[in-house]
Amino acid sequence: MKDFIYNIPTKVYFGKDQMGNLGTELSKYGKRVLLTYGGGSIKKTGLYDQAMAEMKKAGLEVFELSGIEPNPRIGSVRKGAEMCKEHNIDVLLAIGGGSTIDATKWIAASACVEHDAWDFFTKGAVVEKALPIVTILTLAATGSEMNFGGVISNPETQDKLAASSQLLFPKASFLNPEVTYTVSKYQTACGSADILSHIFEIYFNAEGSMFMLDSIMEGLMKTVIKYAPIAIAEPENYEARANLMWASSWGISGLIRAVQTCAWSCHPMEHELSAVYDITHGLGLAILTPRWMQYCLDESTVDRYVKLGVNVFGIDASLPPMEIAEKAIEATADFLFNKLGLDDTFTKVGIKEEDFDIMAQKACRKGCIAGFKTLYAEDVKKIYEMCL
Ligand code: NZQ
Ligand code: ZN
Repeated sequence: MKDFIYNIPTKVYFGKDQMGNLGTELSKYGKRVLLTYGGGSIKKTGLYDQAMAEMKKAGLEVFELSGIEPNPRIGSVRKGAEMCKEHNIDVLLAIGGGSTIDATKWIAASACVEHDAWDFFTKGAVVEKALPIVTILTLAATGSEMNFGGVISNPETQDKLAASSQLLFPKASFLNPEVTYTVSKYQTACGSADILSHIFEIYFNAEGSMFMLDSIMEGLMKTVIKYAPIAIAEPENYEARANLMWASSWGISGLIRAVQTCAWSCHPMEHELSAVYDITHGLGLAILTPRWMQYCLDESTVDRYVKLGVNVFGIDASLPPMEIAEKAIEATADFLFNKLGLDDTFTKVGIKEEDFDIMAQKACRKGCIAGFKTLYAEDVKKIYEMCL
């Protein structure tokens, strides 16, 4: 087992009646707030008015950056950083899903430097300072509300890249499951596929795990498998929304990542799909995951599949290991495509074979994906082909 440092400094306000703490939390960092949000769902749901009222009560001066895109663009980050400089912003409040929170993290970092924001992603620029961030999460999916990473797209180069810094953990995050009642069935399905994938990326670890963390991961996976279909069928089921929301935060946090010894696999393959086709992250992951599992299955890897199959999907432990593994892959596909109702092929979502070479090369821009099984560009291409 490897050594690790555990440090999640984000304070979480979970539940229905926590908004009263927003003003106090933001006021810790100053008076001038940049509120960031996406395409306007927060106005339809009333969350915008609620947050504005709380900030007014606390005597805060609020500036706004709206229109942050799903698969957020570097242009929004640049714009937000300029606003921070121009208005001498003390603290950022991100209200939204992973896209708004990710963009806000990189606004917070870019506001403190003179170089271009994209240099954090391509030139190895290091975050040495960042403005404080508070978030109100509106979609259970990415875990950005309680982690230190953010993924940004650059349409000019068709790149979608992730970067992280210890300085980018939100100072506080407000998690009210009721706020997610309005998330569409499709986005609920995509978000749930994303949560599940974050856990898979760590559970399928090259060098084994710890019993304690395996058990937590299995519990988180069972939570998503149980509650995502309920949230889709009954959008206002508080128990389902609450379970998904808290699972999203823990699914990608430093807790389970403690055991991780290898790189993630489906995420780098998916980011290339979103970069070129602007598809929803969770949908791309869903299509890739069962194919990637199939591609990596052999005598040397079968044990993790057996553990997943028996402990998460309840497959008969007395069956031969390869049979359990195949059934675990089938159960994963059944969950993603039948229970969540997501499209199951690239063809259905318009992803074309002509782009496979370039996307596979970019997914392996570090030479290979040193994941559960090492994947080179030719492996990634084969996995893409399995998705057609
Ligand atoms: O923009 P608005 O109008 O708010 O609408 C959004 C958007 O259209 C809508 N939505 C969000 N909350 C809603 C709602 N609609 C109704 N009611 C609500 N309460 O949902 C749509 C998708 O939102 P988005 O923020 O894009 O979704 P998600 O949270 O899935 O974020 C995806 C982004 O996060 C990145 C992904 O790559 C993608 O760019 N990721 C970030 C990670 C991280 N920071 O650690 C890890 C992930 O693996 C992932 O890569
Ligand atoms: Zn993800």
